[in-house]
Amino acid sequence: MEPKTPSDSRTIMTDLVLPSETNPLNNLFGGELLARMDRAASIAARRHSRRIVVTASVNHVAFNRSVPLGSVVTVEAAISRNFRTSMEVFIDVWIEDRFSGQRTKANEAIYTFVAVDDTGKPTEVPPLIPETKQEKERYAAALRRKQLSLVLAGKMKPEEATELKALFVSS
Ligand SMILES: CC(C)(COP(=O)(O)OP(=O)(O)OC[C@H]1O[C@@H](n2cnc3c(N)ncnc32)[C@H](O)[C@@H]1OP(=O)(O)O)[C@@H](O)C(=O)NCCC(=O)NCCS
Repeated sequence: MEPKTPSDSRTIMTDLVLPSETNPLNNLFGGELLARMDRAASIAARRHSRRIVVTASVNHVAFNRSVPLGSVVTVEAAISRNFRTSMEVFIDVWIEDRFSGQRTKANEAIYTFVAVDDTGKPTEVPPLIPETKQEKERYAAALRRKQLSLVLAGKMKPEEATELKALFVSS
């Protein structure tokens, strides 16, 4: 399969925060942001694999900053690493200052998608070649995150998680 770069899958979605999408403090409701991130991430995974993709897990979400009503929110998603049939997708969320237009990082998240065929059976995805320093860092750490996600989901025994053991046990 032809290798791809994170730029090939990069998906950028910009939208407003409307009153129906806020909590009682007039900030963006967390579930609404999760849905926006899931949409952008699934398009990125589809662009990388050119297959039907399903969300396998949400590995990490940090709601570091609240997003006020009326904000212009940009959700940026790109594949950070491929495995055999699964893809890690890194999502960065930015808000734009109304006056200066300057972007500030508000949140980030990491989702895992699996490419499937028409019957829902996992199917192979193309390899990813990271290019920038940040893409290479995210690529390098992704195996550790995959193993952690599988251990937490009860799909991998802790003793098989080589990357995690390397963090805690010296050889
Ligand atoms: C995701 C799904 C296809 C995985 O099916 P499965 O029978 O576990 O298939 P496999 O064991 O072959 O796993 C497929 C890949 O997903 C990965 N995976 C499965 N669960 C995972 C998890 N919790 N975290 C990270 N990766 C996971 C596996 O490691 C494997 O990756 P690889 O082939 O790249 O090494 C299946 O569970 C499914 O269809 N789930 C529902 C998805 C859905 O509807 N999402 C929307 C929720 S509303």
